[in-house]
Formats: sequence, C-alpha cells, structure tokens
Amino acid sequence: MSDSDASALTSRALAAIGQAQTEGELGRIEVEYLGRKSGHVSRLLSNIGQLPAAEKAALGKAANETKRFIEAALAARRAELDASRLADLAETEAIDVTFPGPPLGRGHIHVLTQIRRQIETVLESLGYQVELGPEVETEWYNFEALNLTAGHPARESWDSFYFSPDLLLRAHTSPVQIRAMQSIKDPPIYIITPGRVYRRDPPEATRLPYFSQVEGLAVDNGLTVGDMKGTLLYMIQSLYGRERKVRIRPSYFPFTEPSFEFDVSCGICGGVGCKSCRHKGWLEVGGCGMVHPQVLRNGGIDPTQWNGYAWGFGIERMAMLKHDVDDIRLFYEPDLRFLEQF
Ligand code: DAH
Repeated sequence: MSDSDASALTSRALAAIGQAQTEGELGRIEVEYLGRKSGHVSRLLSNIGQLPAAEKAALGKAANETKRFIEAALAARRAELDASRLADLAETEAIDVTFPGPPLGRGHIHVLTQIRRQIETVLESLGYQVELGPEVETEWYNFEALNLTAGHPARESWDSFYFSPDLLLRAHTSPVQIRAMQSIKDPPIYIITPGRVYRRDPPEATRLPYFSQVEGLAVDNGLTVGDMKGTLLYMIQSLYGRERKVRIRPSYFPFTEPSFEFDVSCGICGGVGCKSCRHKGWLEVGGCGMVHPQVLRNGGIDPTQWNGYAWGFGIERMAMLKHDVDDIRLFYEPDLRFLEQF
C-alpha cells in the first residue's frame, strides 16, 4: 500500500462523487470509502502495523489526506445537489398567491324566500310588524279560538297532522292572530305572520302537504272592509305592478264576518280572460274578512271597543302567479335548472 494507492483511491472517489445525483448515492459512496470497518480508506490502513516506522507515518498522512479530500468533495456535492433541488422546487412548485382561485358557484336566495321578504318589506312599509308562531300548535289555537269548534263542518278544509288529540302541526297561520292579540294586548295591532303550514293533502300540481302562508291582522278603531281591500291592493300592486286590480268575493270563514276570497286581475290578459287565467280574468289569491267578535274576545280584545280585519294566502301561490309556474312541487325540488331562473 502506498501513496499512489491513496491518490488512485482519491481520484476514484472524487469521480464517483461528481457523478452522484442523489443524497442516497452520496450516502452509499461515503460508506464505501469512509466506512469505519470495511471502507476503502480503513482498508488502506489495515496492515499499517507491519510497516516500518517511516512508511507508517507517510501512509498515515496519505490516508488522512484522502479522507479529508473525500469528505470535502462529499460536502461540496451535497451542497450542489441541495441548491439544484431548491432551484427545481422554485421552478416546479412556485405558488403565485395573487393568482385568482377557481370560480365558486354562487348560490342565491330561494324564490319563495324572495317573495316572502318582498311581502314583508311592503307591509312593513305600511307599519305592520312580523310576528312568528309555533309550527306545532294546540288544538285550541289552531281551531277553537278561531271559532272552529269540534265538529264544525268547516274543519274538514284543514285536515291536519296530529301528535295527540290536543297537539298538531298547524294547518294555517291564523292561530298566530290569537297569539299576537294575547301578547301585544293593547291595540292598535298591525302584524303579519309568515310561516310554514301543514295539511293532509297528497302532493299534486296545486297542493302539497306543507306550504307557506302569510297571515295579516289589523286591530284598531273603526276599521272597514275598504281599509282591508286598500291594503291588499297596495300589496298586490307593489309585488305585481300598478296595473293589477284586486277584487273581493263573498265567502265563508268561521273566524271572519263578513268573509271574502280575494283575487288579483290576470297579468297576461289584464282581466279580459285568457288561457292562463282559464278565461276568468282573475286569479284566486287568498281569504280575508273582518275579524269575528268572538275571535277578538278569544285573543283578549274587547270587540265593543275595537274591530279588525285579517287575511291569509299562500306564498307559493303568489310565486306561481308572479312567475307563471304551474306546478307547486317545483319549488321544493332541488332542480337547479328551475331554481336558477329566479
Ligand atoms: N286561514 C285561512 C286558510 O288557511 C286563510 C284565511 C282566510 C285567513 C280568511 C284569514 C282570513 O285571516 O281572514 O285557508
């Protein structure tokens, strides 16, 4: 073993290091040359013991130098590989934080919510306040207090879902009239109560087992049918346009006397009659009337001092009339092709 062996070893190691492309390869080269037991440099020194003293020193020096060269070359190559890895990373994984993200689909307010909010806004501008009531209601509020006593034939119009003989899903928003009178106590009372109602009707194009209503109630001094009709006209014209007309027809509800149905003139033919309004010229919207004295009493209001009017209509029906939709079920189906139109 000689100096020249050492320098041959050095040049072989340096060549291998120069060609190494990864940290893994460098690690292997390090073990191969500098490994304590069987690395080339250790082996170079393995028979140093048998050499004469002068040669011993020379070989030891050469081996140390070889070791230092290889170590320095390894460190330099490592630094090189690191630098190029970082350069690659900067190239391939650059993130431009100012780059706009992929566009997210935007949702929008459901058409029924839109209409409900419009109705609220219009009536709030007239001084009405929004009052909410429970969807699970007692028999008394849903029926009795509204003059719909047990066995009353009109009850059949409100075929309901019962939890127990006394507890049901409310069949209309009218019970909130009673709750509002009881809680507000002192007239004047001007409230509207939007909300979900439930009836045992199988789903069809014109009806569903659940839908939404907006109830209105005014209790004041000397209110007239004219006040009521004017309010309904203002609401309808605000929602549908100034050219629309409102008419009321005599009807029957146990909680109002007199009672009416109210209609809006057809927006397509202007009231003369066309296919869209089935040649009637008018579209039915809801019911209304002057609050029955007994209903006022049930709400804790003295009917000799105060009187009132009330109305109730379906929000889906309003939306159908507004947008010319002929199937109520569409509002509750998750078909974006339909919903995105509004
Ligand atoms: N509650 C009635 C229904 O569900 C609608 C209604 C009619 C409400 C006349 C009223 C009213 O306040 O005065 O069919």
